[in-house]
This record gives sequence, C-alpha cells and structure tokens, in this order.
Amino acid sequence: MDSTFFRDTLGSPVHISAPMVGCSELPFRMLVRRHGVDVCYTPMIDSRRFVAASPAERRALFDPRGCCGDGNPHTDRPLVAQLCATTAEDFVAGAELVQDFVDAVDINFGCPQKRARREGWGAALLDHEALACAMVSKAVAVLRVPVCCKMRLLPCRTATVRFAEALERAGCSMLVVHGRTRDNTAHDGPVDRDAIRAVVDALGIPVVANGGVRSAADAEALRSDTGCAAVMSATGLLKDPALFARGTEGGGTMGSPAPLPAFRGTADSLALARLYLDVVAECQQARADEGVIGGGGAGAAPAAAAAAAAAAAAGPGLCCRFTENVRDHMLELFRHVVHPKVYLPRSGDPIEAGSDGAPSWKDMAAINSMLHNKNVCTLNQFRELVELLAHMLGEPMREGHALKSLGDIKRGGAGKAARAKRSVPGPSVGVQSNKKKRNTTTTTTTTTTTTPTPARTT
Ligand SMILES: Cc1cc2nc3c(=O)[nH]c(=O)nc-3n(C[C@H](O)[C@H](O)[C@H](O)COP(=O)(O)O)c2cc1C
Repeated sequence: MDSTFFRDTLGSPVHISAPMVGCSELPFRMLVRRHGVDVCYTPMIDSRRFVAASPAERRALFDPRGCCGDGNPHTDRPLVAQLCATTAEDFVAGAELVQDFVDAVDINFGCPQKRARREGWGAALLDHEALACAMVSKAVAVLRVPVCCKMRLLPCRTATVRFAEALERAGCSMLVVHGRTRDNTAHDGPVDRDAIRAVVDALGIPVVANGGVRSAADAEALRSDTGCAAVMSATGLLKDPALFARGTEGGGTMGSPAPLPAFRGTADSLALARLYLDVVAECQQARADEGVIGGGGAGAAPAAAAAAAAAAAAGPGLCCRFTENVRDHMLELFRHVVHPKVYLPRSGDPIEAGSDGAPSWKDMAAINSMLHNKNVCTLNQFRELVELLAHMLGEPMREGHALKSLGDIKRGGAGKAARAKRSVPGPSVGVQSNKKKRNTTTTTTTTTTTTPTPARTT
C-alpha cells in the first residue's frame, strides 16, 4: 500500500465526484472541479470490452489526447479511472491502457444492476472475496499507479468489515464505501452510516463515505458521523454541480474559502447549465485547435484538421463524444421542471400551470420529449433550449436576445427564428399557451409523448 498516495498525490481531498456512467465525463468533471470538488472519477469502463475495442471506440470512452483530454495534468487531475472486470487479468489489461493518464485505478465492487449480476462483476464480486482480493493484489503487483476499490455494504456489518479488511490486506490504497446494500438500489434509499463508520474504524487506509449527499450540510454530517477521510457524491452533484462549494446551514465551509449561497433552484440550474455548456465549448474548441475533432489521431492530422475546419464552417456543433452526456446533464439539471413526475401525477390530470406565469406542463413535456428523443444534438441547439427554458421559467430576457421556438430549435435553427415578447413572464413559446391548454387538458394528456427517464447505472 502506498501510504502517501492520499496526502501527496490526491492532496488530502475532502470532496469527491463519483464515477457515473454517462455523466462523469470530462466537461462535467471540469465543471465540478471549479466548484469545490477535489478528486474526480471517470465513468466506469468495462475493462474487457475496452481492451477489445478499436482505437476509435476506445477514444470514445477515454481519450487523453490534447489540452482538453481525459486526465490532462492541467485540467483533469487528480483523476481516478474506474474499471469493472470479472478477472484480475481483464482488470489489469484495461488498467494498463489508462494508468499513465490517471492518479489511480479503481475496481467496481458496487454496481448492483442485473447485467453486473449476470456477468459477475460489480457488486456480484462481494460474494467472491478471494477473487476480488486477487484482482486487487495482481493489479498492485503489475501497475504503476495505486489501486482503489468502491464497494457496497454486505447484508451484515461484520461481513462488510471483513470484506473491506481483506481488500486492504490485498493492497487497496483507498476504499469508497457506498452505504447501501445491493438490494437497496433506490437513489434516495437509506444510507447506513454506522456500517461505514465500522469500516473506517477497522481500516488503516483512507475510507471515502458515499451515499445520500445532496447538500454541503449533508456532506459535513456524513463526514462527522462516519469519521471518513472524504465524502463522495453522485446524484447530488448531477442536480447541483456546485454542491460542495456552498456553505452549510451552520456556516461551515467544508474547506471552501468563499462558500456560495444555498442552492436556489431554477436560477442556479440555469446558471450551471450555461456554465456547463461553456465548458463543453471550451473542450471542443481546444480539441479543434489540436486538430482532433472528428476522431483523427496523430497519424491522421490532415484529415482531422479538415474535419475541424468543416466543423468550424458549419458553426458550433458538438464533439460527438459528449452529446449524450450533455443531454443527460440537461435532463438532470432541469429534472425538477421537465420530469413527468413533476406535472403528471399518477392519479390523473396534469398539474395546471398557475396563471402567474408558471411554466406550461406541455412545454416542459415537449422539452423532456425533445431531449429523450434526441432531437437536440448540437451545442447551439442546447444553448437555445436553455435560453428558451429560462424564458419559460420566468427569467428576464437579455437585451436584444432572440429566442427560437421549440420547433425551430428542433430543426437546428433552419426555420424562422421567433423573437419572443419581452414581457416576462410570458406565454409558452413554441407550443400551446397556458390559456388554450386549460381547455384541452384531457386530450393533450394522451397525446403528449414523454419517454420514461432511462435507468441509471449504479
Ligand atoms: C447516473 C449514475 C451513474 C452511475 N455510474 C456508476 C459507475 O459507473 N460506477 C460506480 O461505481 N457507481 C456508479 N453510480 C453510483 C454512484 O457512484 C454512487 O455510488 C451512488 O449513486 C450513491 O451516491 P449518491 O447517493 O450520492 O447518488 C452511478 C450513479 C448514477 C446516478
């Protein structure tokens, strides 16, 4: 075990951004690092598939090229790459491909999903202590970077502590304990802080507590209740990427020199969405400057430069590597307004918008549907959508700012741009107005298509 890893390499972190398939990609990591996150994890990489993939497929998962590449020392460190595997050999083979661009590699012993169970990785390995430990010890013997683990709780505390101790003996340098069991898969399910505390007390290596952190106050409470070295958040950061930079109710700052005020809902979601899209643009621009947009590598520089020039001529597009991530983040940031649960209660009729300018549920349903149905793909479209949403949610319009209708955004700006009325809050833009909606609630309930939110990997 490398005892200086936590202090010297990671800088004694307090706030950690969790591995999240589809969500902890480079621009998100850059955003949260600017808001109090000390260490980030990559999304989980399936080690065997990663090794077997073509270079282009591999770069879609982890691409260290250029000044805005994964694991860049100036923009994306400290970074832990998380992988999953069913054998030590598979894990090591994948880890070898990324180890030079990250500060540590992590093995997933926490994913409870059906596929993980079926294939024997993630939380399925909690039943196979000897194999799990062999994966760690073999990796420690072969790799140049420390090996970390992320686990869920076993059904009883003694078994959890025993498994954690075995990982430590095998050479694990830092252990994340997600304080829920495999059967407790709800994202808001109860977190067993006592079980995490038992692991902290039993181990000599740094233990990171994970589960249920939705605010700075939650983070502080989890830390003091468990005695952990650091706290990790996933769902909380998706809703509020600035979570760790905010002050706690009691005035504590969790190490942040100038804490932001408490989360204000929509106003902060809009500000963070704009900031996130700026970071995506930054990454994209940097990659275009490097001539890597379009998937060209060092050996394909002329083709890549031509692709970058074509992209520039076509206006701001979106590096295809991040399109799905941007879509997911928009859905998460605006979940509190666009998710069907908000306006379509199980019992029956949609909740009506207030007459005082509250957003129309049909507008929100249309946006939700547009995002799910992948009608929004370019950076410009995402930006226009955020501005339209801001207007619908009652934000005063900026001077001289033209809004597009949902239809125009969907068509990628090809249609006529609709200049929105400056009186705010105004009527819905692009779909039926609130007034008309009241007469058509029943029919529209059935005609509005809202694709269910996809299941997340945990
Ligand atoms: C969208 C999403 C993707 C996730 N992907 C991963 C993953 O790739 N690897 C992993 O170990 N956990 C993954 N998780 C689980 C989180 O890392 C975390 O352990 C869990 O959500 C509990 O933390 P929370 O209560 O702060 O959300 C994912 C969670 C979410 C919400």
